[in-house]
Amino acid sequence: MQRAVQRVVEQLGLAAGQVRRLFHGRGGCVPGLEWLVVDYLPPVAVIRAYSETLPEPVDVLVEALLAEGVEGVVLQLRGRGRGAQSEVLAGEVPDQLVVEEAGLKYQVKPLQNQNSGLFLDMRPGREWVREHARGKRVLNLFSYSCSFSVAAMAGGAESVLNIDMSSGALATGRTNHQLNGIPTTLVAFMAVDLLRSWGRVRKRGPFDLVVIDPPSFQPGSFVAEKDYRKVLRRLNEFVAPGGQVLACHNDPAHNEQFLRQLMEQEAPEFGFCQRLAQADDFPERDPEMGLKVLLYKKGV
Ligand SMILES: C[S@@+](CC[C@H](N)C(=O)[O-])C[C@H]1O[C@@H](n2cnc3c(N)ncnc32)[C@H](O)[C@@H]1O
Repeated sequence: MQRAVQRVVEQLGLAAGQVRRLFHGRGGCVPGLEWLVVDYLPPVAVIRAYSETLPEPVDVLVEALLAEGVEGVVLQLRGRGRGAQSEVLAGEVPDQLVVEEAGLKYQVKPLQNQNSGLFLDMRPGREWVREHARGKRVLNLFSYSCSFSVAAMAGGAESVLNIDMSSGALATGRTNHQLNGIPTTLVAFMAVDLLRSWGRVRKRGPFDLVVIDPPSFQPGSFVAEKDYRKVLRRLNEFVAPGGQVLACHNDPAHNEQFLRQLMEQEAPEFGFCQRLAQADDFPERDPEMGLKVLLYKKGV
């Protein structure tokens, strides 16, 4: 636990008040602490334990966080046999917070089971989109709380169409635009099951930049193993000549080759350009296990 404490203190220094992963045990770089993750959602920290019960006490970690000025600490147990459960271990933790990343604001819910509202490992993806969105018509598939849309509009996108089957996630998406003073006249939110809505998406296109960031395994909605190829098969209809695609996948069981093969088979009109570097606060012993964000261009 002492190694986790040391890393957490270092990372808090680098966070400089911005949202950041403070300890990424899941990356396997610290043997014995693969179960432990700590996220900083200023001014609070969330300790996530991927186990049924706490494998070892976290008191020393909580003390270190408080000593560094963190105002509240949440523990979330995320064992497979149970739904995630949250408990406030110290200090004050509000239901809702606004955090900052690269000067943009996002609403998060630190006490929420499972996802808090912003996927921290996607920071390099948002950064890339912000830097490359100028003048583009963007399609954001599986948009969740629309952080890619906020980044695209902040980067000067012409328009964004966000698609997610969860109207609650899209409502947070609207809030995220408002928090950043981005008018939503050029931003659309479509609450539909993508796998049943191809015609509606095609009608709104073509697009110059498409972001695909689906869940790995959400039975009944999307299972990457069988459904990812269904999305890629449609890409050519949606994307304008010379358009770009950012294809993301976060299943440790699938390596980069899984996604590259699917692209070759289902979207041969697109050429592979690069894999974006992973965020420096998400060190992975085996980079194949971490987030894959692949950039493609039509007609390369
Ligand atoms: C991994 S999250 C996306 C994260 C998001 N791209 C971001 O940057 O924050 C997956 C999202 O896919 C949505 N989803 C799952 N199956 C879907 C489907 N068949 N059609 C539309 N949305 C779906 C879920 O509601 C969830 O919000």
